[in-house]
Amino acid sequence: MLLAAAVLVYAAWLAPTPADASAQAVKLPETRFASSLSGHGFDAPPGFADALPARNPAHPEAKAVSEQVCSACHTQESDNFAHTVHALGMQVALAANPATATCEACHGPGSAHAANPTAKGSIIAFTHDGGTPVAAQTEGCLGCHSGGPRDAWLGSIHQRNDLSCSDCHNPMQAFSAEGLTTKQSVSETCATCHKDIRQQFNRRSHMPLPEGQISCVDCHNPHGTLNATLLKTDTVNETCYQCHAEKRGPFLFEHAPVRESCLNCHQVHGSNQHALLVAPIPMLCQQCHSHTRHPNDLMTELSLGTGGAPDERLMGRGCVTCHAQVHGSNHPSGPRLHK
Ligand code: HEC
Ligand code: HEC
Ligand code: HEC
Ligand code: HEC
Ligand code: HEC
Ligand code: HEC
Ligand code: HEC
Ligand code: HEC
Ligand code: HEC
Ligand code: HEC
Repeated sequence: MLLAAAVLVYAAWLAPTPADASAQAVKLPETRFASSLSGHGFDAPPGFADALPARNPAHPEAKAVSEQVCSACHTQESDNFAHTVHALGMQVALAANPATATCEACHGPGSAHAANPTAKGSIIAFTHDGGTPVAAQTEGCLGCHSGGPRDAWLGSIHQRNDLSCSDCHNPMQAFSAEGLTTKQSVSETCATCHKDIRQQFNRRSHMPLPEGQISCVDCHNPHGTLNATLLKTDTVNETCYQCHAEKRGPFLFEHAPVRESCLNCHQVHGSNQHALLVAPIPMLCQQCHSHTRHPNDLMTELSLGTGGAPDERLMGRGCVTCHAQVHGSNHPSGPRLHK
């Protein structure tokens, strides 16, 4: 991408006169909209101007009928739609060019449907049983929204599991303040399917997602990524450093499991232990530290402060009473992560 941009700049620099400049410009592949590669930063943002009807593979012969015809039968839907981002932009484009597709930019040409509305597949329906294959549904949306965050949609776990854009988006009505999601918030949208994950955020210790300060898409890109779990960054730790930058270091004395993965000790979506820990201290530490100067004793109620043989590894904050810098230390005398 950078290389291509550099070529563009170089080509522009070489161009002797403005007249020659267009001949030097890099030729983009033909697409439905010349601007649909904008996600890559080549061109202006995708617009509504001169939009064409989407392709309905079930009715290649169908002709566009215009928005007035749709609205005559679908008054309620048209009224709801009128307040959305798409409708506002489409009205402007329609005023400039009356042949611009609006409803049909997503639903495909409507003549077959207007003639026989109950025939399955006569119009692109964004459902799993409406007679339109999911690939045909997403193709229409991607005509304007390919690239950028959706570069890896094809082959992503959601695409492979037959999700359509409309499983998370409902452009027919402004249900959410932004993003046209099917539910009011991003997290509730995801929770229509990932109930278990949303449930974990109700545990005693959790990051403030139920409180609305962060959402699933702070860490995940639901449109697909190049890694397995739809993380926006290459590694788990990079994700955490976005907000917990102080844990990145560099540290004079590192703690090996922290460098490897935060998930060695933390449960990201919620935990019933203090501070999202996977196990309570001292057991958390003893999973790995069994042959140190502090033997891997079995801790019982006797080891509690009120017990017969109080043990400092259970009292107070346990191991981290003394080893307070468990994420790494920058103190010259901190090799044991004490300070
Ligand atoms: C003559 C009236 C009429 C016109 C014109 C019409 N529709 Fe419909 N449409 C209907 C009826 C009736 C249904 C319900 C069909 C059913 O329940 O099987 C429907 C259903 C639909 C559905 C849901 C399909 C499904 O399988 O879930 C969509 C989407 C739709 N119309 C979009 C449009 C669009 C876009 C236009 C304009 C291009 C349009 N309609 C024009 C009468 C019409
Ligand atoms: C940006 C793309 C887009 C545009 C433009 C659009 N629709 Fe839709 N439409 C959808 C999607 C996606 C759904 C499925 C929503 C869902 O999940 O229920 C839908 C659903 C529908 C339905 C089925 C009933 C419903 O509400 O679920 C009708 C009818 C309909 N649209 C009519 C229209 C009409 C009429 C217009 C123009 C005034 C229009 N649509 C413009 C994407 C679009
Ligand atoms: C004719 C081109 C076109 C088509 C087809 C189209 N969109 Fe859009 N869409 C746009 C434009 C332009 C915007 C506004 C972009 C902006 O303001 O940054 C937009 C905005 C959006 C937004 C962001 C809304 C917000 O509040 O920020 C979502 C989500 C979206 N579209 C989803 C869809 C889905 C899903 C479909 C298919 C059902 C679809 N679009 C079809 C052109 C299109
Ligand atoms: C698994 C759920 C899910 C699916 C499937 C999905 N999206 Fe999204 N999409 C989201 C969420 C969540 C957001 C973020 C909304 C916000 O920030 O408020 C979003 C944002 C967007 C936006 C606006 C911001 C941006 O990234 O430019 C567009 C446009 C969009 N999606 C288009 C699509 C299209 C096209 C498809 C189908 C190919 C699709 N989405 C499929 C969940 C989904
Ligand atoms: C319509 C249902 C549906 C919705 C809505 C949905 N997902 Fe998914 N998601 C799935 C399915 C199905 C899978 C693949 C099955 C599995 O392995 O769990 C999946 C997989 C995932 C995975 C990868 C799991 C793995 O093991 O690699 C992540 C991460 C994910 N979804 C995040 C999200 C986020 C974030 C949202 C909201 C923006 C969302 N999903 C919305 C159905 C959905
Ligand atoms: C603070 C960042 C963050 C937030 C917020 C977040 N996740 Fe995750 N998610 C992760 C990480 C990290 C993983 C584990 C990745 C790995 O093991 O490689 C993960 C894994 C997953 C998985 C697959 C593994 C599993 O546990 O089943 C799903 C599905 C998932 N997340 C969905 C969601 C949903 C839905 C939301 C919102 C309710 C959400 N996540 C919020 C960071 C986050
Ligand atoms: C989008 C920002 C964001 C990302 C990304 C993020 N966090 Fe957080 N995290 C927060 C916020 C906000 C808090 C609450 C801070 C507070 O209350 O002072 C928090 C709190 C925590 C806490 C303390 C919880 C408690 O109960 O005291 C832990 C542990 C934590 N995060 C671990 C992680 C890990 C591990 C990752 C990477 C998988 C991660 N965070 C990614 C925003 C984020
Ligand atoms: C070896 C286990 C371990 C690993 C690995 C680990 N942590 Fe922690 N973390 C802890 C313990 C123990 C606490 C609780 C400390 C306390 O109670 O004082 C904690 C607390 C936290 C807190 C809340 C208190 C604070 O210090 O701000 C955040 C945020 C946090 N960890 C983020 C991270 C991030 C980000 C990573 C990965 C870079 C990570 N942790 C890796 C053990 C670990
Ligand atoms: C996933 C395994 C793992 C967990 C869990 C873990 N550690 Fe470690 N820890 C290590 C490794 C590996 C080293 C590096 C050992 C080395 O360099 O010889 C280390 C080093 C240390 C050191 C420095 C020791 C030295 O010899 O330099 C201290 C102190 C320490 N850990 C304390 C803790 C405490 C306290 C906890 C619990 C909050 C904990 N560790 C949890 C794996 C773990
Ligand atoms: C009362 C304070 C205190 C508590 C509580 C404590 N430690 Fe230590 N720890 C020390 C001291 C002091 C050293 C030795 C430092 C040195 O020799 O440089 C040490 C050394 C270590 C070392 C390095 C051992 C070695 O052989 O070099 C590890 C690992 C360690 N502790 C883990 C733990 C774990 C795990 C717990 C909880 C089960 C724990 N500590 C609880 C004070 C404590």
